[in-house]
Amino acid sequence: MPGPYACIDASFLRSGNHPQTRLNSNSTTLTGRQAVLTGVTGGMGEAILQGLLAAGCHVATIGRDPARLQAVLDRAATAGHTGRATAHMADLADEGQLRAAVAEILALSQGRADVFIHAAGVMEEAAWQDLTTEQMSRLFAVNTLAPMVLCQALADALVATEGQVVFINSSSVQTVRATKTPYTVAKTALKALADSFRVEFNPKGVRTLSVFPGRTGTDMQRRLHEGRGEEFHPELFIQPSDVASTVLHLLQLPRTVEVTEIFMRPMRNWMKPGAAL
Ligand SMILES: NC(=O)c1ccc[n+]([C@@H]2O[C@H](COP(=O)([O-])OP(=O)(O)OC[C@H]3O[C@@H](n4cnc5c(N)ncnc54)[C@H](OP(=O)(O)O)[C@@H]3O)[C@@H](O)[C@H]2O)c1
Repeated sequence: MPGPYACIDASFLRSGNHPQTRLNSNSTTLTGRQAVLTGVTGGMGEAILQGLLAAGCHVATIGRDPARLQAVLDRAATAGHTGRATAHMADLADEGQLRAAVAEILALSQGRADVFIHAAGVMEEAAWQDLTTEQMSRLFAVNTLAPMVLCQALADALVATEGQVVFINSSSVQTVRATKTPYTVAKTALKALADSFRVEFNPKGVRTLSVFPGRTGTDMQRRLHEGRGEEFHPELFIQPSDVASTVLHLLQLPRTVEVTEIFMRPMRNWMKPGAAL
C-alpha cells in the first residue's frame, strides 16, 4: 500500500531543490560564534542564553550582580551545552562600566563579535502628572542609551563578521496606555535607534532585529502584578522560552533575508479588561 507521499518524486528531495533542504544548507550557523548578551539574570535573557549555548555559541554576558550572574552561568553549565559563557560586570546605567566591559569582552575574544542581544530592561509606571525627569532618565539609561553605547562599542567587530543585533523591545510601543509613559517613551526611542542602526549597518552586512513581546511570564511582570495587588499567573502569558526560540530561529535564517520586526502577544488573556501590557 503506497504511503500518502508516494506521488512525490524522491529525486526532487535528493536534488537540493526542495525548499526545506535549501533553507537548512544556507542557514546561518551559531556554532563557534561569539555573542554579547545583556539581561541574563532576567527571564528572557536566561532563556536566550540557554538557547545560544545549546546552539554552540560562546556568550559574553553583562550584568551588575556578580552572585546572581554566576548563579545563571552555573545553571547553564549543568545543561552540558557545547557553547561556553563568561561573566562581565557592568551597571547598564553607567557608560564607563559598559565600555570597560566591552573592552574586556573583545580582549578575550580577540576582537570577535558575531551577535549582540540587548535583553535587559526596566519598567516603571507613573501617571502623567507624576512623571519626573529623574525617572525618565533612569528608564532611558537602561532601555535606550545602554544598547546605543553597546552597539557603538561593538560596531567594528560586528561589521567584521557581518554580524547580527537583536533588541528586545516591547509591544507597548503599539499599545499606549495610561501610566506606561516612561516605559513606552524609552522603548519607542529604542525602536527608532534600532531602525537608524539598521539603515547605517545593513549596507555593511549587519542584520538588525527588533522583537516586540507582549506580556511575558517573567519577574518583570510578577513585580508589576504585585505592585498593583493583582494575582500573577505566568502560565497565561508568553513564556520566556517562546521569545528565546523565536530569536534563535531568526538568528539562524539564511543571509538572503533580514527580519526587521516581530510582534508577539500571549495566545490567551491578552485582551483582559484593564490589561496593561
Ligand atoms: N516581561 C514582560 O512582560 C515584557 C514584555 C515586553 C517586553 N519586555 C522586555 O523584555 C526584556 C526582558 O525583560 P524580562 O521580562 O526578562 O525582565 P526581567 O526578568 O525583569 O529581567 C530584566 C533584566 O534586565 C537587567 N537589568 C535591569 N537594569 C539593569 C542595570 N542597570 N544594569 C544591568 N542589568 C540591568 C536585570 O538585571 P538585575 O537582575 O541585576 O536586575 C535583568 O537581568 C526587557 O527589555 C523588557 O522591557 C518584557
